[in-house]
Amino acid sequence: MNFNLTEEQLAVQQAARDFAQNELLPGVIERDNKQQFPTDQVRQMGELGFLGMMIDPKYGGAGLDTISYILAMEEISKVDASASVIMSVNNSLVCWGLETFGTEEQKQKFLVPLASGKKIGAFCLSEPEAGSDATSLHTSAIDKGDHYLLNGTKNLITNGNSASTYIIMAQTDPEKRHKGINALIVEKGSEGLTVGKKEDKLGIRGSDTHSLMFSDVKVPKENRVGEDGFGFTLAMKCLSGGRIGIAAQALGIASGALELSIKYSKERKAFGKPIAEHQGIHFKLAEMATEIEAARYLVFKAAWLKDQKQDYGQASAMAKLYASKVAMKWTVEAVQIHGGYGYVKEYHVERLMRDAKITQIYEGTSEIQKIVIARGLLK
Ligand code: CAA
Repeated sequence: MNFNLTEEQLAVQQAARDFAQNELLPGVIERDNKQQFPTDQVRQMGELGFLGMMIDPKYGGAGLDTISYILAMEEISKVDASASVIMSVNNSLVCWGLETFGTEEQKQKFLVPLASGKKIGAFCLSEPEAGSDATSLHTSAIDKGDHYLLNGTKNLITNGNSASTYIIMAQTDPEKRHKGINALIVEKGSEGLTVGKKEDKLGIRGSDTHSLMFSDVKVPKENRVGEDGFGFTLAMKCLSGGRIGIAAQALGIASGALELSIKYSKERKAFGKPIAEHQGIHFKLAEMATEIEAARYLVFKAAWLKDQKQDYGQASAMAKLYASKVAMKWTVEAVQIHGGYGYVKEYHVERLMRDAKITQIYEGTSEIQKIVIARGLLK
């Protein structure tokens, strides 16, 4: 067992930390207030290689391992979880799926601009009446010979408006249930595609979350990813890796809250001494750091398994389940440590608390992670 990071991993971590502190931190409160997409910062993330981190350089990626990816996700999430979800969806759900299952033509046409950050992508599974129960999706893709005719609605889509490339899961043969689902690449601007309203969210307010409506959208057959009926399996495989990214996001949010709490408790005085010297704060910080470290090992284990090409579905579910719980629990306590100031936007921890909640919901709720873990145990 080796807990040491390589020189390359340390360099990625440092680059992500510098980027987060220098480029994301200055405007993060304003973007959260205004629900403003971090356009310039996303462009910079592309230039730094953060949008296609694990993709082969021949397809525009940075060619790094999953450990490097989670190190970068953690550093960016400490400061701006809106930026990190944009990054996570592009890396894990869109680029990874295209590189792993796409044709050479799809990789050249769609993956290269996505992995190099010239464009960003969105992964479209959820529907108004199909969230956790993903096999029940209603969006239809009727086979018309050389193309599919796409009709339906997707909702709560991260990067819904900012994306140029959408991976849409749609049902071609309802009798086959999940085995009738296809994954189709749809380009922004396609006739019949309408981007719906932007959701006004509790957290990750800098990211754009939209519904998408499809009305007789023609999708060429060559835009199907994988074999006929492979769409649901593709979605599940993408989500298994995606959950490592979201677990790293939760880890980053929790670590950010810890760093801010340590700093504040050394500065803030009460009853004649810094609050850091009161045992009540000692105990909170100690438990917070311990649980964050435990979450870190689960996240690293899942990433390591993926890098070793071993099965990581259950490990990623465990990492997401636990890291998101830790993030929620300890961001609430970070607000408590900050007292009244914790309730004020300027001190950042209230935003971390709001951002933490979504990590227990998207890419599979905590309850879905428990189903995945239990099924793995009982198999
Ligand atoms: N990898 C590969 N295949 C998988 C899989 C995995 N991780 N998990 C399930 N499958 C396969 C199963 O083997 C099965 O295939 P076969 O019939 O060929 O054996 C098929 O998928 C259906 O699986 P189940 O029978 O287990 O189906 P189910 O309906 O009982 O449960 C579920 C499926 C695990 C609950 C699944 O629906 C699920 O994960 N739901 C959550 C969906 C989700 O995470 N949504 C997130 C939205 S995307 C998002 O949030 C992105 C964003 O914007 C940030």
